[in-house]
Amino acid sequence: MKRIISELFVYAAGNENNKSIIFVHGFPYDHTMWKTQIEEFSKNYYCIAYDIRGLGQSPAGNGQFTMESFIDDLETIINELKLDKPILCGLSMGGYISLRALERMPEKFSAAILCDTKAEADNNEGKLKRAVGIKRINDEGLAPFAKDFIKNCFGDYFKQNKKEELEDIIEASSKFDPVGVKGSLLAMLGRTDTTANLEKINIPTLLICGEEDKLTPPAVMKEMQKKINNAEYVEINKAGHMTPIENPEEVNQAIKNFVNIIG
Ligand code: MLT
Repeated sequence: MKRIISELFVYAAGNENNKSIIFVHGFPYDHTMWKTQIEEFSKNYYCIAYDIRGLGQSPAGNGQFTMESFIDDLETIINELKLDKPILCGLSMGGYISLRALERMPEKFSAAILCDTKAEADNNEGKLKRAVGIKRINDEGLAPFAKDFIKNCFGDYFKQNKKEELEDIIEASSKFDPVGVKGSLLAMLGRTDTTANLEKINIPTLLICGEEDKLTPPAVMKEMQKKINNAEYVEINKAGHMTPIENPEEVNQAIKNFVNIIG
């Protein structure tokens, strides 16, 4: 079922009386990146996936976003849908949102699944890269930036064997509103470091990382695992940064094992 909440495009599937999972996508993607997970988990869970403001079908408005405004949006959706302690599942930028949400409103969630993400804020080099990205979108339009950024996210196996799927993803993201994409870049550039909160996370947590992830590599996520109490870590074969798209079978199995254990 599709809904608009506070102008945001929200997709919900499954029985709303079941336990809920809220999926937060990465950059520059939209809720459809969770398609395979929603197909599988909506059988037993109430699955919610939304388009982050400015991306996909959620309007960019003036594009003045902060990580805090993204958490406000997540909170609004949870409250509006009356979700009772959902499992929070975020990838990369969706993971940054999830990690800050776990710091700001930990009581809202019963478990967390953090895919291909990290707690550290952008360092100077990272901030300058964001600035180059924004300039490039201003100078050349969104498509060349989207193409290069997205290609860098995927591992070799997907790039060699799923060429059409990759082209479709690039084409879809190239049509997003450039104002919204730049707004996300600014929000990520300005986000806080959530490392100090990792040791305070006291809900079951699963970390997932693609073996070929160049953006948030296994070594970074294994460090994160050490800081979170009893966190589980699963490395996904034949996948880069976009594990739920690149190897949905292994990601779904990892999530299934996790949710079965936590009950
Ligand atoms: C993402 O997948 O959300 C991005 O790679 C995050 C980032 O650019 O830091």
